[in-house]
Amino acid sequence: MKKKLTFLGIETSCDETAASVVQENTDGTALVLSNIVSSQIKEHKKFGGIVPEIAARAHVENIELIIQEAIYKSKKKIKDFDGIAATRGPGLVVCLNIGFSIGKSISAAAGKKFFPINHLEGHVLSPGIENKISFPYLVLLVSGGHSQFLIAKGLNDYKQIGTTIDDAVGEAFDKTSKILDLGYPGGPSVEKFAKRGDKDSYELPLPIINRGGCNLSLAGLKTDVLRKSKNIKSIQDKYNLAASFQETINKILVKKTEIAMREFNKEISSKTSKAFVIVGGVAANESIRKNLKKISKKMNFKCIFPSKEFCGDNAAMIAWAGIQRFKKKLFDKENLIVKSRWPLDKNAPFLKGPGIKL
Ligand code: KG4
Ligand code: ZN
Repeated sequence: MKKKLTFLGIETSCDETAASVVQENTDGTALVLSNIVSSQIKEHKKFGGIVPEIAARAHVENIELIIQEAIYKSKKKIKDFDGIAATRGPGLVVCLNIGFSIGKSISAAAGKKFFPINHLEGHVLSPGIENKISFPYLVLLVSGGHSQFLIAKGLNDYKQIGTTIDDAVGEAFDKTSKILDLGYPGGPSVEKFAKRGDKDSYELPLPIINRGGCNLSLAGLKTDVLRKSKNIKSIQDKYNLAASFQETINKILVKKTEIAMREFNKEISSKTSKAFVIVGGVAANESIRKNLKKISKKMNFKCIFPSKEFCGDNAAMIAWAGIQRFKKKLFDKENLIVKSRWPLDKNAPFLKGPGIKL
């Protein structure tokens, strides 16, 4: 019987310290033997956002225990691993350095292959942990730092067809939560309080909705939320504004997804079933899940979301990306350093800053 690959994954790109042991299944999916995530919500709550130095310190404090726990829970030993994968970027350099160097050290000491992983590729491949899925497929990656439509053509082969020209979707949720004082982390708080509000009570802008292909713009939406928040008279107004904000994000994502699907159809002539995967922290949002399932049905795409534990940052997706790379013999040089910016499609235009032409 062919040996099933087993990997240790480590993730410290932002404010989650995570380690996981993942083994491949014979059907092409993964068996997650452990998936430990220590979130730093408490540390960053009083600042209403992530403070890099505090995040780095928390990683240093937690990383050993988190790795030990992941290995213990998996009932494996370091000698059983076929490789060790750690996030190399993009992210906060002071945070990346911690998981990356500990991953390299364990690999060197144990004589195991080391796999430096692009965090975004981890997200893009994450639906494959639980679903049999084959390339090509359409991806919407929506997290705190990134919002992109990509065509995943193969491992290491991603074409970006749309991106945000200003704020990421998760960032817009976080900023709205801060403006409305709904709590930290922002996304889940806005989702929770939006349930108590009327989504049709405020009319908010839909920036670049009829132009710019499937690129996104959210800064104007956030500014309008700020403007309207000044006239809030009651707690109910607050919930209504949160609900209207979430509804507006949904309208934007549905419209832009439809455009992205048309672009996918133009580019990929595949007659077989087409898949659309939504990944990243924002993919946990129930209203977004519901609306994107609807548009997928209309456009004849199979809609796939990872389970919530694999939406936000986690190390199972990093271990899984390592397994995929091992199988394709994509070995990088081992004396690498971390990268704060690392686009999946290096040919994609950089669409941030003033004077952009869409
Ligand atoms: O993928 P992720 O955990 O970290 C990054 O790579 O950025 O995404 C974090 C982002 C945050 O902006 C958070 O507010 C958002 O995902 N998020 C949500 C929800 N859960 C997390 N946004 C909307 N609704 C949610 N339920
Ligand atoms: Zn992420």
